[in-house]
Parts: sequence; structure tokens; C-alpha cells
Amino acid sequence: MNETLANLLQENRRFAPPAELAAQANVTAAAYDEAAADRLAFWAKQAERLHWHKTWDQVLDWSNPPFAKWFVGGQLNIAYNCLDRHVLAGNGDKVAIHWEGEPGDTRTITYADLYRDVCRAANALTDLGVGAGDRVAIYMPMIPEAAVAMLACARVGATHSVVFGGFSADALSGRIQDADAKLVITADGGYRRGKPSALKPTVDEAVERCPSIEKVLVVRRTGEEVAWGDKDVWWHDAVEGASAEHEAQPFDAEHPLFILYTSGTTAKPKGILHTTGGYLTQASYTHHAVFDLKPDTDVYWCTADIGWVTGHSYIVYGPLSNGATQIMYEGTPDTPHKGRLWEIVEKYGVTILYTAPTLIRTMMKWGDDIPAQFNLSSLRLLGSVGEPINPEAWIWYREQIGAGTCPVVDTWWQTETGAIMISPLPGVTESKPGSAMRPLPGISADVVDDTAVSVPPGGGGYLVLREPWPSMLRTVWGDDQRFLDTYWSRFEGLYFAGDGAKRDEDGDLWLLGRVDDVMLVSGHNISTTEVESALVSHPKVAEAAVVGATDPTTGQAIVAFVILRGSADASEELVAELRNHVARTLGPIAKPRQIMLVAELPKTRSGKIMRRLLRDVAENRSLGDVTTLQDSSVMDLISKGLQAPS
Ligand code: WT7
Repeated sequence: MNETLANLLQENRRFAPPAELAAQANVTAAAYDEAAADRLAFWAKQAERLHWHKTWDQVLDWSNPPFAKWFVGGQLNIAYNCLDRHVLAGNGDKVAIHWEGEPGDTRTITYADLYRDVCRAANALTDLGVGAGDRVAIYMPMIPEAAVAMLACARVGATHSVVFGGFSADALSGRIQDADAKLVITADGGYRRGKPSALKPTVDEAVERCPSIEKVLVVRRTGEEVAWGDKDVWWHDAVEGASAEHEAQPFDAEHPLFILYTSGTTAKPKGILHTTGGYLTQASYTHHAVFDLKPDTDVYWCTADIGWVTGHSYIVYGPLSNGATQIMYEGTPDTPHKGRLWEIVEKYGVTILYTAPTLIRTMMKWGDDIPAQFNLSSLRLLGSVGEPINPEAWIWYREQIGAGTCPVVDTWWQTETGAIMISPLPGVTESKPGSAMRPLPGISADVVDDTAVSVPPGGGGYLVLREPWPSMLRTVWGDDQRFLDTYWSRFEGLYFAGDGAKRDEDGDLWLLGRVDDVMLVSGHNISTTEVESALVSHPKVAEAAVVGATDPTTGQAIVAFVILRGSADASEELVAELRNHVARTLGPIAKPRQIMLVAELPKTRSGKIMRRLLRDVAENRSLGDVTTLQDSSVMDLISKGLQAPS
């Protein structure tokens, strides 16, 4: 990683916070000093933003590293923090969720409504025999009941395991079995791409292989016919009839809140375990700090699915603990038309938008004229998460969506970290397009070389975390050894994130993707992200994915898959021009051996490019064959391979 090409990223524009935002920002530069002076006191202060039934005796117990205990002896209830306290403070009439169904049906849910629904669901769970210490699988579309189900579990102390509604019966049953779940909460289906998409048949198939499941609680969303068995219970029977009175019991700060499975590239998914007090402290604080949320005036929208950690921390727990008013959208961004997201921004006056680079690049590909048809002037802050955002996409987001004035916060974190770790602070940081900038106050991230030595400014290496943080994973569910092996064995005493990173001359951090995605070309380490950014900086390119393919002369050779912007035509000349463009931008060593023009890229369900599949394609091709592909069978082949559960 040290050999990362010198100064690959030639982006040197900087964008200061708007003066008005800076003057009223929730968090100022003083937070960095405060946290540097006393990290544990800093986190204790953030924990005080929550309601504790019983205060803690010790902020951090790190006597048995890397098994952390935060806020030892403290007790709280997560649902109380997200609901009861807002209602008790007189904010019951405030809108918690503006829900927008894909077919255009809507629901407006106040904090009082959500509180009532969660109390009923909590009573229903108790009636179904679910209580503290049990596991519940949640397999739902993006409907309000998904959030209600999570909060009801938290309220009674049951540990939820949300499984993305797009996963197969195999993936679902594997996760149910691993967690030994007692109950599945699901729906008949949801709407996707203009039609009902069933979920219940997948659950039926999965549950046949899961003897631990006692009941299946089913929300009626689409009204389509479903098979009905002994274990099945309708949500509207069990929940709507239940009492709306429910007193939230306090749970220990280290009580297990949720398990969320991350799919590695090949191995069995890891059940990442998060607990209660530290997790909520950091999810809540980072949502307040990074999005500068003003609960009385902002309309916040995170476009993630609750099946991912982003949905957990920045749709459910962070925003609701902060009393936010937010949007929840059920469907896809191109149904019934490609301006759907912008139409929603206009309709509700969204002020803060949090989305993923893959979506931003898709919007770039669809063309500037689409967002231009909508009034987006309510927006004041934009966020990005999930993968490195190329400077070009960053600038497009700021210019075309953010009117050239909204700060863009590029937030780096992982399922394992539970909450944002590296990000600009919108009222403080002069941001650079493509850089996640600095660790947040209270977080100590570093970039180290192979021997765990911190790299100097201008150096590249591995991203590590030096000190425990409140929302860190506590273990891999049922497999402490795998927790140690995966995250704590690469470097003694450091958490290894698995990402490559660069520290620039100013000390700011540039995330370079998974270290498995670094290519070795004629002895030089080149990150796929950097070549992708160079390609996307060409005006005719919307999106690019780069892989290293085995090459007899150079060890690995760079193969790029490129999607052109709406108006550009594919040609051999354009391919040559793009290869030269990369060579000019990054140096001749980074010139792709091959560029394939494609209509789509294979992505995981969470929008990450599946480089492994592209590498297969790249390696099966004869050398020197600069093929110009258009929406071809190669990509069809790839997409067939994508059906396997991840
Ligand atoms: C991996 C974690 C965090 C919620 C969604 C993904 C990549 C994430 C960024 C960013 C560069 C990023 C990393 C990380 N990643 N955010 N802002 N810049 N890379 O959660 O599925 O657990 O994936 O996503 O490679 O390790 P996840």
C-alpha cells in the first residue's frame, strides 16, 4: 500500500461550510478539543443526551480487550428514548414519519402514533411469548411496521435480527438458525417497481427449515393471497387488538440490542452484535453532529433500507432518539418515473438527504434534466455513505442536487462500527470532494503500514481504529474467535477495518475501498477506487468498476467496466480516449489494459459492486481484446450469477 501512486487524487478544491450553517451548528470545533482532552468524559457527556433509568458506574471497562463494556452499570430503554420521552416532553403531535408507499399511498405518523403502535406491538410480542433475551427475525418491506417491529423488540428486550427483504429463503433460514430466533415478523409483501413483490412465500420456505420458530407475525401490505399455517398470526389481529399501555422496563447498557449479518465475499455471514447504551449514545450523537439536525425545522431523509445498518442507525435509532421528522419511502427510485426521489424532496420540503454513491451515480447517468424539473431548494445538507464517493460524483451531488451550496458529508463507517466514525462536521470542516476528512470527536482512526506503524502525511496503508468506541460491535454472535481473528489479529491491539486509506499532506483521510480490491500492477499497488474516480472524471462516463485480472506480463492488469452518460455513444475511439484519459490523470502505469462499455454493473443488494464477478469475466477473456460491449450477454451472465444469496 505504501507504493500507492504518488498523488493519485488530484482533487484540490475545498468547500467551506456556509456561514449561516456554521454560526448555528449543533457541534463546533471545540468538540475536537474536548474529546482530545478527555475522550471518556466526552462520551459520558454524549450519553447524557439520553434518558437513563439508572446512571452508569464506569464509562468504559476495557479490562478484557477487545471485549468492551460501555456505561457499565447503567440502565435504559431504547424505545423509551426514541418515543416516550418525546411524548412526555409535549411533542406527541410532531410528525415522526412521513411515509410514502411506492404506489403513491401515504401515511403521516406522529410521535404519539408511533408510541401507541410500539406499545401495542410490545404487548403483542409478550402475548406471543417473546421477551428479554429472545431473538426475533424481521423480514419486511419498507413500511412503518418495520420500524415499529424493531422498536417493539427493543422495548421488551428481545434482540432483533433484520434480514433484508430482498434476500432468499436460504439466506433467511441461515440467519434464523444462526441466531436461534423464536419469531419472524414479516409482511405478505411490499411494492417494488410498480407491482407487489411477495415476501411470505420466502418466509414459509425458510421457516420449514427452522424448528426454533414458534410464530410468524404477518403485516398485510399488498393484500395478495398468502398460504396460511399454524404458526401464522396476522399483525392486525395480534397488534391492533393489544393494549396501548406498556411500561418500558430498563435494560442493562450491555443488553444485546440487535444482530445484523454482514456478508463477506465468500465465507458464512457474520452476525455482528450491537448492544444498548453505547450504541444509542453514538448513533444519536453522530446523527445530531454530522447532520446538524434541528428537530423543529428539519425534514430528514435517509434513503437506505432498514435491512442495512444505515437503516438501523440513521432511520430508526439515531433520528428517532433525536426527535426528528423524517421521510420513509417504500419503493425504487425510478418508479413510476426517474424523478421520484426529487418529487418526494419537493413534496415534503426535505432539508437533509442521506444516500449512497451508487444512487448518486445512477442519477448522474439518468441526466441533469431530471432533478432540474423539481424544486430542491429546501435542501441544506447532503450526506453520502456505503463506498468511496468519487470527486466527480461529489461535485455533481453538490451542484445538481445541492444548488452548489449544500455541504456534502462523506461518512465512513461499517456495520461493525455501528455509527459514523470518519466524516466532516458540516459547520466546521472545509471539505474536499472525495475525502471523508477526519475522525469524529472521540474517535481515533489511523492509517498504518504493514508493520502497524502510522504513515506520515502523503502515505497510504490500512485503516485502523486505535481506541474502543461506544457503538463498536461487541462480538460475532456465537463466535468470539471469529471476532478476534477477523478484526483484531492483523495488528496487535488495533481494530483492522479491512479498508485501504491514504493520509494527504494536510492529514485528511481518503478511503480507498476494501484492501482485497487493491491491484498489483508491475509491482505497483493501485486501488480500484482511484482508477474508477479517474474514469468518472471524464465527462462521458457515468459509472465505472475496475478489477485486476491476472496478466502474464504485469502480474495483474487493470480491466475497467464503464457505463456511459445518457447521451454518449459507444465507439472504439471513445474506449481509446478513456484509456488515455486514465493514463493522463493517474500516470501511464494505471492505464487500463481493457475497457468494456456496459449498460449495467453487477451489484450487491446494498449497492456495492461485485468485483469478484467482474474479475471472472475479465479473466475469461482473451488478452488484448478491447471489446466494446453494449448491454450484452456478458452482463446477463453476470446477473444470473447474482441470484445466489450473499
Ligand atoms: C464498508 C462497510 C456504513 C454503512 C453502509 C455500509 C465501505 C462505507 C464509506 C465511505 C469509503 C466506505 C468501506 C467499509 N464504506 N462508507 N464513506 N467511503 N468507503 O456498511 O456494508 O458494513 O460496509 O463500506 O469499505 O468497510 P457495510
